[in-house]
Amino acid sequence: MRAVAGDAAGASHAAQSLRQLLGPDAFRAADIHRGDWALPCGEVVDHPRFPWRGVLLDVARHFQPKAAVLRFLDLMAAHKLNVLHLHLTDDQGWRLEVPAYPRLTEVGAWRKGSWTGRQVDGDPTHDGRPHGGFYTTADLREIVAYARARHITVVPEVDVPGHSQAAIAAYPELGATGAPVEVWHAWGVSEHVLAPSRHVIDFYKTVIDHVVDVFDSPVVCLGGDEVPTKQWRPDQAAALGLDSVDAIPGWFLRELSAHVAAHGRRTLGWDDVMDHEGLVPGVVIGSWRGEESGVAAALAGHDVVMCPEQHVYLDHRQSDHPDEPVPVGYLRTLADVYAYEPVPDALPEDAHHRVLGAQAQIWTEHLDSPRRVDYAAFPRLAAFAEVVWTPRARRDPAGFAARLVEHHLPRLDALGVEYRPPGGPRPWQTRPGVPGRQR
Ligand code: ACM
Repeated sequence: MRAVAGDAAGASHAAQSLRQLLGPDAFRAADIHRGDWALPCGEVVDHPRFPWRGVLLDVARHFQPKAAVLRFLDLMAAHKLNVLHLHLTDDQGWRLEVPAYPRLTEVGAWRKGSWTGRQVDGDPTHDGRPHGGFYTTADLREIVAYARARHITVVPEVDVPGHSQAAIAAYPELGATGAPVEVWHAWGVSEHVLAPSRHVIDFYKTVIDHVVDVFDSPVVCLGGDEVPTKQWRPDQAAALGLDSVDAIPGWFLRELSAHVAAHGRRTLGWDDVMDHEGLVPGVVIGSWRGEESGVAAALAGHDVVMCPEQHVYLDHRQSDHPDEPVPVGYLRTLADVYAYEPVPDALPEDAHHRVLGAQAQIWTEHLDSPRRVDYAAFPRLAAFAEVVWTPRARRDPAGFAARLVEHHLPRLDALGVEYRPPGGPRPWQTRPGVPGRQR
């Protein structure tokens, strides 16, 4: 047996391929020291199609404990995925310890409950179960090192200027109104946004200083998605030399991405940032609202990560089975995910290189435990992993479906992954009496 690789990541991929060839027992930690392994004869020549084979894990809506994140990194490595985008801050929780601002986690990491009602029902009720948690700096350094040892880059996200109610709950002067608010217990998009002030920029520069100290990723995500403007006043925009409040999100991005750049890192922004004038050159665009913004960004000379919600949002429900547990709006089957093509048809060939790759997104409003994350992620993440690894011409839906059942689900069983079985939902996922939740 001989493995030859171009770099250390390649050697690690080769080791994963060998593990796959050894059979499912090679994925069971207790069996790995067995002596009688046999490999079939053959030659594997392989390399990944895209450099960015990512997964977003939302640890803000429901905190995922450190052990769950480390396990998730092992699962990513087993699927040769190499970017973990950690969504660390949102209206419902701030999960990143920042020594200069202890209230971000003392206050911002905790909420009094989680929404159980439906968004359409108006005033949200919550389940009365306090929820929270955060990663210490030591936790995050451990996560980054663990990822690095598996050739995975952890991309941190600090979302501004919307999705910031937890930060405002901790430090009300960060908010556009200055009024006290609680960490939000509802889902959706909070109207509480950051104040367009020097104080807020300086505060977030200090946060970014800490983030770049802890995370070694060449890219830092500043979010920028879904920003309500109703709390901002025209005179605040004018004071910044802007025509209207609609330009304030772009101002935030310019100010803070310059600080990210001063640290020698690049900013990733959700495609909403393209709605504003003066987009900073070099910002990487996460194309989530569809493919069109990814095409526009690539044509404008931006690198893009394709993560359109119509294809790779793994919080969407997996089937129309009546017991399917996660009633987030849309149906996204395993076959749908396998059929996704990261390079949009509308993108001219000379801009294909702008597509760094794609990213599956696991938002956790409805995933309140690592078990539920397992269920949402797998086996769709295995389909996604093949999409970002395999050349388009070699993709084979029928072959994937057969290999999944014969070879891969047994590996996931050995790893203890509670994936969605092909036959229907797992019984423990169904909770009678809980009204259907929606985003
Ligand atoms: C997003 O789904 N709001 C990026």
